[in-house]
Formats: sequence, C-alpha cells, structure tokens
Amino acid sequence: MGIQYNEKSRVFKLDTPKSSYMIGIVDEENFIGHIYFGKKIADSDMRYLMRLPEQLPSERPRDRVSFLDTIPMEYSTHGVGDFRETCLRVRTNSGHSACSLSYVSHVIYKGKPTLPGLPSTFGKEEDCTTLELICEDAVLKLRAVLVYTVFEHLDAITRSVKVINDSEDTIYLTKVLSACLDLDNKDYDLITLYGLWSKERMINRRRITDGKQRISSLRGVSSHQEQPFMAIMEHDANEDRGEVYGMNLVYSGNFMAQAEITQLTQLRAVIGINPEDFTWKLESSCEFVAPEAVLVYSAEGIGEMTRTYHDLYRNHLIRGEYKDKKRPILINNWEATYFNFNTDKLLDIAKEAARLGIEMLVMDDGWFGKREDDNSGLGDWFVNESKLKGGLSYLVNEVNKLGLKFGIWFEPEMVSPDSDLYREHPDWAIHVPGRTGALGRNQLVLDISRKEVRDEIYSRMYQILSGSNIEYVKWDMNRSLTDIGSVSLDADTQGELYHRFVLGLYDLQDRMITDFPHILLENCSSGGGRFDPGMLYYSPQIWTSDNTDAIDRLKIQEGTMMIYPLSAMGAHVAVCPSHSNGRITPFETRGYVALAGTFGYELDVTRLPEEERNLIPEQVAMYHKYNDLVRTGDYYRIASYQNNQEYDCYEVVSKDKKEALVTFIQVQCRPNYRARRIYAKGLLDDCLYRLEETGEVYSGGALMYAGINIDNMWGDYLGKLLHIMAVK
Ligand code: DGJ
Repeated sequence: MGIQYNEKSRVFKLDTPKSSYMIGIVDEENFIGHIYFGKKIADSDMRYLMRLPEQLPSERPRDRVSFLDTIPMEYSTHGVGDFRETCLRVRTNSGHSACSLSYVSHVIYKGKPTLPGLPSTFGKEEDCTTLELICEDAVLKLRAVLVYTVFEHLDAITRSVKVINDSEDTIYLTKVLSACLDLDNKDYDLITLYGLWSKERMINRRRITDGKQRISSLRGVSSHQEQPFMAIMEHDANEDRGEVYGMNLVYSGNFMAQAEITQLTQLRAVIGINPEDFTWKLESSCEFVAPEAVLVYSAEGIGEMTRTYHDLYRNHLIRGEYKDKKRPILINNWEATYFNFNTDKLLDIAKEAARLGIEMLVMDDGWFGKREDDNSGLGDWFVNESKLKGGLSYLVNEVNKLGLKFGIWFEPEMVSPDSDLYREHPDWAIHVPGRTGALGRNQLVLDISRKEVRDEIYSRMYQILSGSNIEYVKWDMNRSLTDIGSVSLDADTQGELYHRFVLGLYDLQDRMITDFPHILLENCSSGGGRFDPGMLYYSPQIWTSDNTDAIDRLKIQEGTMMIYPLSAMGAHVAVCPSHSNGRITPFETRGYVALAGTFGYELDVTRLPEEERNLIPEQVAMYHKYNDLVRTGDYYRIASYQNNQEYDCYEVVSKDKKEALVTFIQVQCRPNYRARRIYAKGLLDDCLYRLEETGEVYSGGALMYAGINIDNMWGDYLGKLLHIMAVK
C-alpha cells in the first residue's frame, strides 16, 4: 500500500486497499501524464495507457498541439495546446495567459500536510502517505506542487495544488482548479446533487454526452442549487455494482465541477474554485493554495463510494469534542415562536422539554439588537434585554437548572442596513461604490475578508459566548453574495474577494472552535445552502434543510447521505401541518426520519397535542437506543422514494456486522394490501440474526438474498423500524 516511484519507467503508483492510481512522466518535455485510476492492479508500469506512440507521426517531430490535446494529463494548463478544460491559467503583466508545467522533482513522505487557512482531511503518519510532485513553467518561473495523499484503509485519494511565484514579476492567477481526472473509452453516467431552498441535494443521474456538462456556484456559498460534488460511473453501475468515481471539493464558496467527453471519446473531469470572477494577484515569492479535492473510487457501486466518504469524513475531517460523541437532543424555538419570544416563553418550552427527556434548548434568531422580524438588527450582537428580561445569563442559568444545556443562534457574516453596526460602518458591507447593493432577506453581507471586520464581529460574539454557559452555536448564513466589491482591495485584487470571503469565514470559525472547544457548532445556511466538507471541518453537524416535513426530508436526506455521514445531518421532528408544505404526517414517522440524523425537535412542545407530547419520551429512548449505531455504522440504501415514488428504505449496519437497523417509510399505502419485499444488505451470510419485532431468527444470507416482507400499513406516511441483532 502507499506510494511507489519506479525510477526506470518514471511512473508513480498510488495504492489504496482496493484501487490503484498511476501517474507517468513523459520523457519529452517532462509533462505529467495520467495513466490509470481504477480497480487495484499489481502492475507498476502501464505507460502504454498514455498512448504516447500514437502522438508521434513517423519521421516528423511531434506535433505538440495534437499531442497535448489528447494525452491524459494530471493537471492540464491553459493556452499551449490542450483545448479540453484546463486547470491552470495565468495573466502576466504583458497580458499573456499561456502556461505549461513540466516535472522537476518529487517527495514522498508519511502523513499529510495541512493547507494554510483552508479546511482539509487529516491523517497521522500511520494513516496515510503523501506525494508532492513539483513542476514548473520555466518561462514564467511559476512553480506548482501537486499534492496527493492516499489513505491506508480507505479507497480515497486527496489532491490539492500549491502555486508559487519564483519570478521577480507579479503573476495573476485566473484559474486554479484542484483536480483533473482523465478517463478513457467507457460509457459513463454522471450524478450531481441539485436543488433549491427547502429542496436541497436532489439526485440527478444522466448520461455524459459530448461536450461539457458543468455544475457550479457563483453565489459565494457552495449553495442549495448544486453540491461541490460529482460522481462519474459506468452506465450500468447501481447502488451495489459497477465502477464509481466520486469527486468532492473541501470548499464552501464558488466552485465548478465539470465532466467533458472530448473529440476522442475520452472523459475529462475537473473540480475546483469557480474561475468566473476569480483572479489572484501572486506577487514574487508568494504562494496560492487551492482547496482539497477528495477522490473516492468504488468498484462496488454508489453505496461503497458513499461508505468511503462517510468513513473518511467521520474519521479524518470532522474534529472536536463531539467528533465521536452522541449529540444532545435539542429543541429549537424557530418554528415554535419565530421572532416572537421572551424569557418566559423560552423557559416554558425548556420546562416541558426537560420533563420529556430533551437535553438542550436552542434559542434561534431574534435575541439581539432590535430584531422583531428580519428587517433589522444583524450585526448588533448585544442581548435585547426587553425580550430577555434579566439578561442572557439569567436565562441560561434557569435553563441549566432544569437540567438542559443552552445553545444560541448567530449570523455573523451579515449586517442589516437598519443596525447600529451598519450606521457606524457602512463601508464594512460588501458593495460596489456608487451602486445600490441588492438586499437579500433585507440584509447585506459583511466584508469578512477584512481583518478589522472579523475582529469586531468576533469580539462581540466572544462577549456573548464567554458571558454565559453556552454549549452550542447555530451559525447561520442567509443570503448569497452580490455586488462584489471591497474597499480594502485594489482594482487588480477585487477578483480575490469571493475567495478571501471564504478564507475569512474559515478564520472566524477557527477562532471560535479554538477559544470554545466545548461548544457544539452546527452550521446552517437558510437550511442546507452550505452543506459541504469545508464546513464539516469546523462543525460536526450541519442543518440539512429548512424543510422539516418528514416526507420531503426523505429525498433531501437521501441526497445528503450519498456523501455526508448521518452523524453530520441536522434532522428534527417538527409540528404538523408542516410549516414547509402543510402536510400532516404521524408523529412517529417524523421521529423515524429524524432518527437518521442528529435528532431533535423544532416545535412548541407546550402547545403540542397531548397524544403527540406523550410520544416524546419514547422517541427520546429510541434515539438513545439507536444513535450509536446510526452515528458510527455503515449506511446502505435499500430503496429510494426519489426513484419509486412509493416508499423509502435504508439500513445502518454496525462495523462488526452484529447489529442493523432498517428504516422503512411507506409514503403510499399499497392498493392491493400486499407486503413489500425488501432485501437487507451488509450482513454476514452465515450469521444468525433475530428480528426484534417478531423474534424470528434467520441467517444473514436469508435476510439479504431471500428478503424480508414488510406488511402493507393502512394509510400513507407510515413507518417502521426493523432492529436486527446477531444471535449470540
Ligand atoms: C434560516 C435557518 O435555516 C432557520 O433554521 C432559522 O435559523 C432562520 N434562518 C432564522 O432566521
């Protein structure tokens, strides 16, 4: 396992448990070619895959244009002959954009470097091996370091790129993508996750055809609309079979991901920061680091890719005290009260919640400045004592006395035009001088690329967080970036603002989790508008969607779980009729659906019908019984409501395969009363398992290959859990 270099053939071989990745140096001009990425193979020299002889018409020197336009590349550059999507483009002081990289040297070492200012996966020396390929454009004196890390126990390879200006002149980078993957001659499908507010991460699977199929964000956040993720797979691959390549960017701002079928039916896939509206002024001796891309290979379908991402993110991305811990069951007052609350109301909710076994009260938007609705107050992070009589400490102490933890909401990146902060510092908002900036949810975006802005916002947050026993923060972000302009940047650096904004965000979150390591941070962006691996580096959980209807959530959570671990997925039981769509679903079903995630409540427990309130202690017990399994186990998709429009079914199996939990949600009752057959996954063929509900005992083989009948239930939106335990 690990990384080997064959000096004779000039081939690098990166091995994970079940995959191999090969890179070759082309003798002429030392271009870095891509040889292979796929199922593990023993060979170490397969240079023929680069098709180099095909590029040399006899008795003529090689024609570099057709050569560079067809050779599989590791990191293609702009303007010198590769007309496919390239990864690196510059603008020199003389206005030229061409660049070209050739291999210079390499280092291989144990462990994995961090990326300055950026989130990334981490690993100890015993977990992973890193290759740094150093290459340069000798004309520009521009150095690029391509960094690859392989994990010993996971079929994942991470890639990032560092660009260093060794020249005396300033060089502008106008495009620095993070990874390129050239594959050959197969019939591929593409999965991306699209959506909108309240309907995030819908699965879109389509054939990759000629030309470029691109997804991207230019909203300043990774967005509700697209995920910084794509999976490329054999056309007949499914959940359990076939080759799948996942590419996910550890980044929370503008991105692009693109799959392209080229003239010779090769496939080029790239992912990285969106080059649109991006320029980085790289002064002499300075470096720019592009975010990390995580490549996952599975020869066993989408499900195996998913489980690799889950393991990687649970063990090598998510950090902090809650990384491996059960999260407190919270009750959030947003859907209960919206802005209309005070200390008494919150304490009423807390008292009833405590009686029912809930463990934390989260006070959402509206506790600060002048904020009775979303028209004012953002930026004024001072307690509104007319709402919270006796101040925050009083409220927190009272809540603590009831045995509950206390959590609080912030939206640190924003400012309301109607706020003292904005009146004092109108230039702190991102804006274009002379142009009236667009409002989104009646608010403007703070220019957190500026340190003085971050310092002031953070010191206000610090006062609040250090003044009372706050054990959870919900960090919200409710609008996209527009009118891009910063008064602190010059004409030739305005193109850095989108990225600097993201770096500023990471800096702020880093300060907070460093100063308050015991605080459980949950990120949020109008629901799931910034659910990405970058944010997971700072917060072990993210609010999945503002849509809390259990049935809509099935689809949203299926798309989310395709990449992100269940432990990270904020999911709550909410009131009915649903505030999202008016639908009425049984309280039990709402509990089963929320059980897949972090679990909590988003309702006014004091006004809940008695029958529903009485079910809460049972749900609390259900969470405590199953959360260890759900949080740490292997996730298998059994049936998809997105596909069949009738029912949803998924399973979590413990790592030792001794326990499994199947969640079955019948969205529609079957007209013919017949049971549905489902097939368990991930069990041991010969092990005997007991179904807790009926006491029946069957082998894992029987449960997986013969299947389980789930009786039709009378009514729509009903659910059940099947707890499967190995017989001792
Ligand atoms: C959007 C979030 O997604 C909601 O949960 C809530 O916190 C509101 N913002 C508050 O303004």
